[in-house]
Amino acid sequence: MRTITLINGDGIGPEISDAVVRIIDAAGLKIDWDVQTAGAEVIEAEGTPLPSRVLESIRRNKVALKAPVTTPIGKGFRSVNVQLRKELDLYANLRPCKNLPNVKTVFNDVDLIVVRENTEDLYAGIERQVDDDTAESIKIITRKASERICKFAFDYAVNNNRSEVCVVTKANIMKLSDGLFLDTYRNVSLNYPNIKTREILVDNLCMQLVQKPSQFDVLVLPNLYGDIVSDLCAGLIGGLGVAQGANIGHDCAVFEPVHGSAPDIKGQNKANPTALLLSAIEMLRYIKEFEYADKIEKALFKTLEQNICTSDLGGSADTITFTNAVISNL
Ligand code: NAI
Repeated sequence: MRTITLINGDGIGPEISDAVVRIIDAAGLKIDWDVQTAGAEVIEAEGTPLPSRVLESIRRNKVALKAPVTTPIGKGFRSVNVQLRKELDLYANLRPCKNLPNVKTVFNDVDLIVVRENTEDLYAGIERQVDDDTAESIKIITRKASERICKFAFDYAVNNNRSEVCVVTKANIMKLSDGLFLDTYRNVSLNYPNIKTREILVDNLCMQLVQKPSQFDVLVLPNLYGDIVSDLCAGLIGGLGVAQGANIGHDCAVFEPVHGSAPDIKGQNKANPTALLLSAIEMLRYIKEFEYADKIEKALFKTLEQNICTSDLGGSADTITFTNAVISNL
């Protein structure tokens, strides 16, 4: 039996993790879940929101499924999510964005992949208070990190029959940092003569995405733009409740939805487990459990086609009702 780390998170995390574990189990795939807690709830007992046992578990099992973990805004501890990605060197954040059956949105032809650099940029966490009225954040872009994320994006395009990789920067203003990312992209692209290239500034990209998203295929972006643009793309396909993601490194991978812990609906049996379920389906493909991945995906799509969905998608099903419907469609 395969052992996989499960971080069931906080906020809506435990509700949606429960749903996904039930669905995978009902599909007939036996997984030994190595459940690890993290975040605010473990600080008191263990002195840190990300105890080393969590990292050790992922290093040991190589694969983790992760529900969202709350980060205090403006003060308090450093994001568990950012730390996890950094500690495990999960340098590629992959966020596929494709319309789902029966989920009505403005566009019905969205099929793009956001590849976000996951380890540096303004998220390196290098900040200081210069004086009482001034704060400073440092944006780090290195050739090494830019090169491996651009290679990842081009390799993804080659392996998944995609035709174009478009680089997104603000290199007209940040000539050195974004300029380095862009220059590295150009160099990497020379090794992939069959993949089309395209360069766009992030502000123009946002405008184009909300007007004609079908023109984009694979996007590769530095960390901050990637974070913002992937939420925008989530909006194109029905919102955060359906947006999946994965953090991939050389040695391990952590699959998690784009959304956060949604404290506003915590404990109300309202959360949509679809984003975590789609992340889990990609995880199953990553560990080569293709049959189970396809079986669960079919059951999910059938449930949506039956118009059974949670309130974020305009439906009336609660988390448990929706989960039961997916299970009965397996
Ligand atoms: P959020 O994604 O938690 O919520 C934004 C809005 O989307 C809320 O109205 C929420 O109810 C709704 N929503 C999100 N997921 C949903 C789902 N599965 N079903 C139905 N509705 C859903 O973003 P917010 O409020 O900015 O962040 C809350 C906390 O989550 C913060 O502490 C943040 O740091 C953390 N966070 C954690 C992430 C992670 O663990 N990877 C990622 C993003 C945020």
